[in-house]
Formats: sequence, C-alpha cells, structure tokens
Amino acid sequence: MQEKTVSGFSKLSKVGKVRWVVENFFKDPENVTRELMSFWHEDEEQQRILDGFSENTISNYYLPFGVAPNFMVNGKLYAVPMVIEESSVVAAASSAAKFWLPRGGFHAKVIATKKLGQVHFSWKGDSDKLFQHFDELEKRLRQDATHITINMEKRGGGVLDIELLDMTHLEPDYYQLKVSFETCDSMGANFINSVLEEFGSTLEIFVQEHPAFKGEEQQLEVIMAILSNYTPECVVRAWVECPVDALGSGCDGMSPDAFAKKFAKAVRIAHIDPHRATTHNKGIFNGVDAVVLATANDFRAVEACGHTYAARDGQYRSLSSCSIENGKFKFWLDLPLALGTIGGLTRLHPIARRSLELLGEPGAEELMMVIAATGLAQNFAALRSLVTTGIQKGHMKMHLLNILNHLEASEREAAEAIEHFKDKVVSFTAVREFLKLFREKKGSIA
Ligand code: MEV
Repeated sequence: MQEKTVSGFSKLSKVGKVRWVVENFFKDPENVTRELMSFWHEDEEQQRILDGFSENTISNYYLPFGVAPNFMVNGKLYAVPMVIEESSVVAAASSAAKFWLPRGGFHAKVIATKKLGQVHFSWKGDSDKLFQHFDELEKRLRQDATHITINMEKRGGGVLDIELLDMTHLEPDYYQLKVSFETCDSMGANFINSVLEEFGSTLEIFVQEHPAFKGEEQQLEVIMAILSNYTPECVVRAWVECPVDALGSGCDGMSPDAFAKKFAKAVRIAHIDPHRATTHNKGIFNGVDAVVLATANDFRAVEACGHTYAARDGQYRSLSSCSIENGKFKFWLDLPLALGTIGGLTRLHPIARRSLELLGEPGAEELMMVIAATGLAQNFAALRSLVTTGIQKGHMKMHLLNILNHLEASEREAAEAIEHFKDKVVSFTAVREFLKLFREKKGSIA
C-alpha cells in the first residue's frame, strides 16, 4: 500500500492516475483498472474532448440519456432529451405530455431574460462622494469594458443597468455595483464575470486617479466580482389549461371535478408548507434538471436559483400554482432559468449537441420554455399520481425492473415476476425469494 496523500497527481498521465487511485483505495486493483478503463471512449478524440471538461479525470460516469416524446409547447411538437438516473421520471414526463397533447399541450412565455452580477467592495471614505461621481464612474466602467462587450453588443446583448448600492446598514463600509446583463443565447457566465472583473479594476483606477478622491485612495477595497446565480428577472412561465370536464379519463377513476379540486388543494399545501414545498419542487426539478443536463447547461446554477426564487417572499413555497375558475382548470409554473444554447459545453459535449439538434436547435428563450414545460409536466404527473393511486404504484414497477436486473433475471423470470408482483409489495428480499423459488421449481421440473 502506498501513502494516500500524493503530490503532482494532476501531472501524472491518465493511466498513472488510475494506477495511483486503484492501488491506494481498492482491494482488487486489476479488476477496478479494467472496469474504469472499460468506460473510456473507444474513440480517442471523443475521450480527449470529455477529459478536457474537467481535471484529474480517470474514467467516464455514465447516466441514461432518455427521450420524452409528444411534448407540445406553444403548438410545436418536441421529443425532449432527458439525462437522469431516477427511474419513472422520463416515463412520468412522457405520460403527462401525452395527457396534455389532445388538451392543447403546454403553453409557455418568457417573461424576462435579465442576468445579474455584482462587484462587492468596501469604501471607508465619504459615501456621498461615491454617489456624486457615480455618473462619471458609470461612463468609465462602460468605456473600459468595451473590448469585452463589443461582440455581445453586436449580438443584441451587453451591459444593461449599473446601480451603486449602499449596503452599510447591513455590513460596515460595504457597497455594491449591481449590474444587469442581456446575454442572448449564451448563459453568459464567462462574459459576465469578465465584465465584472474589469469593472472592479476600473473602480480602483477611478478612485486612484480622480481628483475628488485625492487622499482617499486607500479607502477602497474591491472584495470580489462575480455573477449572481439568483436571476429573478430571467423568468419563464409554462402552463396547461382546459375545462375541468375535459380532464376526463385522466383522473384515475375520480370525477374530473373531484380530481381538479384535490389536485389544486395539493398545490396549495405545497404553497403553505415548506416540507411539502421542498418535495413538490424536487419533483419539478426532476424534469428541469434532466433537460438542463442533457443540453449541458449548469444544473447547479438552475437549482440554486430556483430554490432562492421559491423563497422570495421569505418562506419557501411551491414554484407551481393551480386555479379552478369558471369551470377552467389552470396549472402553471414560474421558473427563473439562466440557460445557454451556445457557448459553454453546449456545443462541445457530443450528446448535448445532439440534444439541441433533437430539439430543433432552439435559442435560449425557446429552451427556457421547453424546460419549464418539462418541469410542469413532471409536477403534474407526480401530483396526479399522489392524489389518485399514490406514487408507489408507478415507482414500484421501475423498482422491480431494477431489482430484476440486479439479480440477473432472465426475460422469462422477469415476465413471471412482473405478473406475480402486480398486486404485491415489491422489496429486494421478496423479489430474491420469488426468483429463488421460481428457479428451484424450474430446476425440479427439469
Ligand atoms: C420523486 O422523485 C418526486 C416526488 O416526490 C415529487 C412530489 O412528491 O411531488 C414524487
């Protein structure tokens, strides 16, 4: 056994990294090496691209890439790409898409696309002076960042507003430049961060050079310059609606009216109770994240933003809402989504590129609408199960298939097991017992 600390790991070759890891952390280095390497892409060029995304890569971590067809959003049909490890999610999205297809499909509208960033700084000098010279500073900020913003401006984006905020009521000497951006079809993280860092430098130079701040140059310290992943003004709304009666046979034995009322109550519960809201929103993100991942967007950013948005009035609440008015059922989701369809990994990741092709090469706004619709579909499917049959029925079917796979059941054994467990509780032990008995019986017959 070697020591478990290492220096210069990043400089080792990939095989060297694998060797160090398996020899130090695994009981069976040879087998583990073989297994890790079996997931390397056979095409060296493709592997080189994947390795380039991150550091210290020793293999690839596979996740299922699925498709939910029949998604009609604003009258256009999509087959939605989804990357997710949780069983039932793609099936649920597909079933909700199919349910809404004859009922007008999903509707969606981008409400705004403003992204945000901040330069956080300390100023121990005269506060008024900062504000008095802010117009001048703003001009200089925009001017100095032109070399970064010029291309984005050509595409119709760039820096929108720059605000100077006095935050000293919360933290001594703390001020902020709060900057809004339009980044068109790119998520814009690099663009925003570059502009903000430039703004930070300009701010320092401005204070050093401006005669009004003479003698106060040392009073300024830029703390950090970084985008904010909370983008409450980069929001999309997706909704479904139909007359209550038209909910028809989708209600699993309930009358459409009873179903609609129970469904709306479930949404209200998620609005008032943070425990339920968290699970409710998790269901929404089952759909959202899967498409965000499939298109190589930043799911951590999307999640972080969504949850902050869910708590925007001070309490964590459901992201979706439901109403029944004048005999009409309406269910909608407002979701902040900062996405890109160009830049980042969106075009570099081979499967993400195909996901975008599958979606018909959408721009960022169209992608926002498709993703919000998928989140809403997921939420609809989960609530429909919860208020009718319960969630376990569907989950258990997938769970059973996973267990059967794990126990290496043959096709025949799987078919027998599915029949057997139709009306029984699925557990690992119960399935193992069933297979054991089935195999023994088969053995004794043979
Ligand atoms: C499971 O991944 C998601 C659900 O729990 C969502 C919900 O409860 O609304 C089914």
